[in-house]
Amino acid sequence: MRRIDYDTEQHQDYARGRALTERQQQTWISAFAAVLPEGRPLVGLDVGAGTGRFTPALARAFGPVTGVEPSVRMREIAQAQSRHPDVRYLASSAEDMPVPSASADYALMFLSWHHVQDKPLAVRELARVLRPAGRLLLRANFSDHHPRPWWLEHFPRGFAADAALFQPLHEVIEMFTSDGWRVAGFGTVTEPSVGTRADMLQRLRLRTLSFFAQLSPDELEAGFRRLEEAVAANPDAPAPVFAEPLLTLERC
Ligand SMILES: C[S@@+](CC[C@H](N)C(=O)[O-])C[C@H]1O[C@@H](n2cnc3c(N)ncnc32)[C@H](O)[C@@H]1O
Repeated sequence: MRRIDYDTEQHQDYARGRALTERQQQTWISAFAAVLPEGRPLVGLDVGAGTGRFTPALARAFGPVTGVEPSVRMREIAQAQSRHPDVRYLASSAEDMPVPSASADYALMFLSWHHVQDKPLAVRELARVLRPAGRLLLRANFSDHHPRPWWLEHFPRGFAADAALFQPLHEVIEMFTSDGWRVAGFGTVTEPSVGTRADMLQRLRLRTLSFFAQLSPDELEAGFRRLEEAVAANPDAPAPVFAEPLLTLERC
């Protein structure tokens, strides 16, 4: 995987390119609620919070949240745009979080796990900051349980290049269970459609997905040309939905 430095790329367009509709956000919050304890408030960590797409919504639904985010630029946008009295953002990473031991009821990692450089260290650090029976909500892709977004097939090597960004599911599970965690659940969540196919194409042009950084200029050009042709044939059709994996791990 070509490593993405969010301080030099993506940050300027991320919030627009990856914006969630109210219904999409609510779908995720309901999926998280289904695997979290019923009591409120719950103390949360949004690890790899990015521009804070989820952080205030987590605070509204569950209780106070700390967004952990290493990129200065992503954090600045989160601090400016994703405010809530029960949200704060810290400059740190999954490997080293400046929060007390056993202080959080849950941690969310939404498409940030594959960016973590020292994963064994992050497994231990996540165990340290969560309370016993605390849960890690890992919204990750896995090379062998990879979603099939409708637009990906138009890019040369599309599916293979995207799947290669991620570990196989058993490897992730083994990293956690060999360190004393247990699997509390594995399933998929299907977001409501983002809008029309033309809406989605407009977002994809912003290239706020690590996938695009893995392709050559020729592959990108060919892929966008094919995608534009396909969308032009039916631009107002709803963008098809697809199922996204959610792995829930429990700190024993
Ligand atoms: C694809 S973005 C996801 C952001 C947010 N969770 C969302 O869904 O919009 C990945 C984020 O992970 C962050 N990141 C990179 N390395 C990290 C690490 N070691 N620990 C925590 N976050 C990291 C990046 O800076 C980036 O903001």
